[in-house]
Amino acid sequence: MVTAYDYPTAKLVDKAGVDMILVGDSLAMVVLGYPSTNQLSFEEMLIHVAAVARARPRAMIVGDMPFGSYEYSVNEAVRNAIEMVRVGAESVKIEGGSEMTDVVRGIVKAGIPVMGHLGLTPQKRHLLGGYRLRGKTPQEAKELIEDAKALEEAGVYSIVIEFVKKEVAKEITEKVNVPTICIGAGPHCSGQVLVIHDILGLSEIRPPFAKVYFDCSKAITEAVRKYVEEVKKGEFPNEEYSF
Ligand code: KIV
Ligand code: NA
Repeated sequence: MVTAYDYPTAKLVDKAGVDMILVGDSLAMVVLGYPSTNQLSFEEMLIHVAAVARARPRAMIVGDMPFGSYEYSVNEAVRNAIEMVRVGAESVKIEGGSEMTDVVRGIVKAGIPVMGHLGLTPQKRHLLGGYRLRGKTPQEAKELIEDAKALEEAGVYSIVIEFVKKEVAKEITEKVNVPTICIGAGPHCSGQVLVIHDILGLSEIRPPFAKVYFDCSKAITEAVRKYVEEVKKGEFPNEEYSF
C-alpha cells in the first residue's frame, strides 16, 4: 500500500502495482503544508479522495477519516464514512483501538469496509506523548495486542500498525486473522505502507522508517531551474514551441 492524494499520482502508483492506495491524512502535512494532521478538514479530504477516485485505479482506494470526523458519535462517523464512499473511497481507515469498536461496528454495518490503525496514531499524539515508538514496555505491548483483537472482533478487514517495536507487530500479526499493514513496524507483517512523498524525497519531515527510493526534489528543482534559465536567456520558447 502507498499513499496518493491526486489524479496523476494515483495513476502512476496504480501502474506500479500497489494493491491499495491510501488517501492518508498525511495529506495535511506533505501536500497542504499544515503543521500536523489535526488541521485537516473533512471537506479537504473529500476533495482528494474524489481526485484519486477519478483515476479509476485497479488498487482499492482507502480514505483516511480526518481528526474530528469520527469521534463525536457513531452516527456522525457513519454519515462521514458514507460521504467518503460517495466521492469514491472503497474503504475507510480510522485511528484507534478498543475505544473505537462501536464506530467500527457502525461503519461496517453501513456496508463500508474499515481498516484499523494502531501504534503511533498521529491524530492522537498529544495523548500518546508525541511521535514516539510504541510497544516498548510489556504493558504497551499487551494493550496493542488487545486493541488489535478488539478491532478484529469489531469487524475491521485489516490493521495498519505504525512505528511499533517489530516483535510486537509480529505478535499482533500472528494473533489476529486480518492482514496487518505496517509502517515503521518491521518486516513481520502481512503488508507494508509508505507515504509517496517520503518514497520520492518530497517531504520536509521524513520519519526514520521511511525510505527514499528516488529523490525527485532535486529533479524538480533542476528542471525548473533550467526553464528559468532558458527563459532569461531567450532560449525558450524557441521555434519549436512558437506558433
Ligand atoms: O496518513 C497516512 O499516510 C497514514 C499512513 C502513514 C498509514 O495513515
Ligand atoms: Na493517517
